[in-house]
Amino acid sequence: MSKRVAVVGTGYVGLTTALSLAYIGHRVVALDLDEAKVRALKQGNPPFFEPHLPEMLSLVRDRLSFTTRYEEAIPGAEVVFIAVGTPPSPEGSPDLTQVQEAARGIGQNLGEGFTVVVNKSTVPVGSGNYVEALVRRAFQEAHGGEVDGRFAVASNPEFLREGQALYDSLYPDRIVVGAEDRRALEVLRELYEPILEQSFPAPAFLPRPERMGAVPFLTTGLASAELIKYGANAFLALKISFINELSALAERVGADIQDVARGIGLDSRIGPRFLQAGLGWGGSCFPKDTLALLAMGREYGLKLSIVEAAREVNRRQRERVVEKLLSELKVLKGRTLALLGLAFKPHTDDLRESPALELARLLLDRGAFVRAHDPVALPRARREVDLPLEYAETPEDLLKGADAVVLATDWPEYRTWPWGELKPLLRTPLVVDARNHLDGKALARLGYRYLGMGVPA
Ligand code: UGA
Repeated sequence: MSKRVAVVGTGYVGLTTALSLAYIGHRVVALDLDEAKVRALKQGNPPFFEPHLPEMLSLVRDRLSFTTRYEEAIPGAEVVFIAVGTPPSPEGSPDLTQVQEAARGIGQNLGEGFTVVVNKSTVPVGSGNYVEALVRRAFQEAHGGEVDGRFAVASNPEFLREGQALYDSLYPDRIVVGAEDRRALEVLRELYEPILEQSFPAPAFLPRPERMGAVPFLTTGLASAELIKYGANAFLALKISFINELSALAERVGADIQDVARGIGLDSRIGPRFLQAGLGWGGSCFPKDTLALLAMGREYGLKLSIVEAAREVNRRQRERVVEKLLSELKVLKGRTLALLGLAFKPHTDDLRESPALELARLLLDRGAFVRAHDPVALPRARREVDLPLEYAETPEDLLKGADAVVLATDWPEYRTWPWGELKPLLRTPLVVDARNHLDGKALARLGYRYLGMGVPA
């Protein structure tokens, strides 16, 4: 049954939610206060790079509209998602200013019927109660009178990965909804039914994965749903940190961490994913969410030592790459280093907390020149990055006269660069592959000195 939905915020989470709900048949209004963004979206232009967004935007044109005004989006909506940014504040807990603004806009404009207000932004435990109080106050200030029974708050954490945002929201591993109000749970179950049952026709550009069955729908209390989101992200982060820590030991004892990870990951209790050793994790989620989890622990008098250790190992991983370069080149001052990749992972132009940029900063601090390439993130880097980097558009420009190649982001295309032809451009044929992404044996045959992370040199 088609529902009327409003989504506040058109970032990765908001826009993807709006698109996938419109795709499965709901009528959706997406709201953003940024007029330029809304104008671009109305013309079919997403404000960031993410596979398939333009195709999806044109597919759902009839069911998805955009606005900057709460009065247009909220009154008719049965379900309102809050999907705004929650950037970290200096002490680590997320800054909830945008959530507060959204709750106010929603409260002032609540419609006549029953509305489910859904927290989709990643917010600390307790935010469901907080949003409920804000919506209630805003309603009373605007209209006087009682708001009881007119709305309920739910938490519906989002687990999508950048670069696969639409895929993850159409074909999720699970949908988690936390609420104290039974009607809210029921409304959200109906909203997600086509995804839970996988009853919608798959878009041609995003085929349904083989063996995809019904999607589990987990209903919990508010606090549990809120904690699930942080727990999942922190667990993934520490899985990566664990294999990274082990990769340092693998190097010492002459083991190959890729074989070790395969052997560990074949245990179905552990699973093979997120065991790729490398430069460590970054992006807008793991760093922020682990920090927020630590802040939550402190607030409740607990030290979350495993999460703390995962962050420390992650920081050390960038230094390990610098140490490898130092041990080969001895002096980094005045060297030109060719950096492959700037985005925090492939298939995105997102540079937030990018391990590549953190590595670049360490190298610049040592007096090296860093010349960087990225298949999609260069325009964004030129606008946003505040480091004295040089940028190269082509492999030739990147490698000319460089003292070493450092791979920081595992873009697939780097594997197919003509490394044999490019070799004479380099001053030293040294490759430090901080993502274990290139074919080290093939490079060694071409005469490169190849160093990976936790793999035999
Ligand atoms: C992450 C989670 O995977 C999503 O489930 C979650 O919804 C999202 O955060 C969020 O909270 O919004 P994302 O940050 O888009 O998604 O990226 P991931 O694919 O998880 O990668 C995070 C970082 O870990 C990247 O820097 C990546 O290079 C690194 N990574 C990943 C590794 O170093 N090794 C691995 O094996 C996997």
